[in-house]
Amino acid sequence: MKVLSLLAAAAAMFAFSMTASAAVDADAATKAMKDNGCTKCHSIDKAKKGPAFKTVAADMKGKADAEAKLTTFLTTGPKIKMDDGTQEEHKALKDPAVVKNLVQFILAQ
Ligand code: HEC
Repeated sequence: MKVLSLLAAAAAMFAFSMTASAAVDADAATKAMKDNGCTKCHSIDKAKKGPAFKTVAADMKGKADAEAKLTTFLTTGPKIKMDDGTQEEHKALKDPAVVKNLVQFILAQ
C-alpha cells in the first residue's frame, strides 16, 4: 500500500499548492514583470536601477497602507530619480488584476 499513501501525499501537496497560488500567482507575477520590463531595473533580492523587491517588502512591513501605496505607485507613473540624477516617470500598469497580483507578490518577498 506504499503507492497509495504516496499518491495521497502527492494529492495533499497538490491541494496545498492550489490554495497557496490562489492568494498570489508567482508565475503570473514573474511573467508580468518580464513582459513589462520591470526586470530591467528590479530583481527580487539585488538592487539594480531600482530597489530589490525584498527591500521594498521590508520597508513596507507592518504598514497598513502598503498595498494601497504600491498600487498607486504602479498605476500613476510617479517621477523617480535615477542614479545619475535624471528624473523619469516610473513604468505605469493598467490592468488592475495584474497590479494587485504584482503588489501582493512584491510584498510577500
Ligand atoms: C527604468 C527602470 C525601472 C523600471 C523599468 C521599473 N522600475 Fe520600479 N523603480 C525604479 C526606481 C529607480 C525606483 C525607486 C524610486 C524611488 O524610490 O524614488 C523604483 C521603485 C519601485 C517600487 C518601490 C516603490 C516604493 O514606494 O517603495 C516598486 C514596487 C517598483 N518599482 C516596482 C516596479 C514594477 C512592478 C515594474 C514593472 C511594471 C517596475 N518597477 C519597473 C526603476 C524602475
